[in-house]
Amino acid sequence: MNIFILTGAGVSAESGLGVFRGPGAALWKRHDPIQLATPEAFARDPALVHEFYNARRRNLIAASPNAAHVALARLEASLAQRGGALTLVTQNIDDLHERGGSIRVIHMHGELLKARCASCGAVSDYRDDLAVDSRCDCDGALRPHVVWFGETPLYMDEIYAALDVADLFVAIGTSGAVYPAASFVREARAKGLRCCELNLEASENAEEFDDRRYGPASETVPSWVEEILAR
Ligand code: OAD
Repeated sequence: MNIFILTGAGVSAESGLGVFRGPGAALWKRHDPIQLATPEAFARDPALVHEFYNARRRNLIAASPNAAHVALARLEASLAQRGGALTLVTQNIDDLHERGGSIRVIHMHGELLKARCASCGAVSDYRDDLAVDSRCDCDGALRPHVVWFGETPLYMDEIYAALDVADLFVAIGTSGAVYPAASFVREARAKGLRCCELNLEASENAEEFDDRRYGPASETVPSWVEEILAR
C-alpha cells in the first residue's frame, strides 16, 4: 500500500508550536502575515522578519515530537517492511517529524533550522538567531529557508509524482486554507483515491474527504495508524 500524507500545523500543536488558524491563540490572529511572511516584508524590514522567525526557531529547539509524529514514523517503517511506502509531505517548517523518527519528509514550505543565501541560493543548517548582518560565504545576506506567501512551494514535481502512485490520501492537522497544498485532496479524488481527514475540527475543504475523524492529533493519529497496520 502506498499512502500519501499531508500534514500541517495541527500535527505539531500539542508540541507547543502553535497553529496559524483555528480556535484559540492562532499565530495569524496575533501577527499580520503580510508584514512577516512575504518577500516584500523581508525587503522592507528584515530585522522584524528575523525577529519573528528567531523566536519560532528558539521555540522549536525547545519543543519535542508528540505521539502523532511518533505514530507516523512507525507507519513509515511498517509499510516499508511490507513492501509499501509512505510519502510524508509537510507544510510544517519544524523538524518534529524527523525527531519523531520519520526518515523521509518532504518540507514543501521549507525548514526553519536552515538558512538560505538570498544571492547564491546555498542552503545550510542553521540553529542560531539570524540577523541583518548574517552572511553566506559568498557575502550574500542569509534569510530563513522558508517559503513565504507569493513564493513557489518546494518539491512540487516530486509531490505530484507521489500522488500519481498513491492508494490513499490523508490530510492531518491542516486547515485547507493555503494553496497549492489545499488542492491535493482534489487531485487525489480525481485519481479515484480514498481521502481521509484527521483534524481537530472540520477543515475548509472537509466535504472533499470520504473519511473524517476529529480530535487531537496525539489521539486520532496513533489510533488511525493502528487501524491501517491491522489491515
Ligand atoms: P493552520 O494553522 O491553517 O491549520 C491548522 C489546523 O490544525 C486547524 O484546522 C486546526 O483546527 C487544527 N488543529 C489544531 N490543533 C490540533 C490538534 N491538536 N490536533 C489536530 N489538529 C489540530 O495550519 P496549516 O494548514 O498547516 O504557510 O497552514 C498552512 C500554511 O499556512 C502554513 O504552512 C503556513 C501558514 O501560513 C506559510 O507560512 C507559507
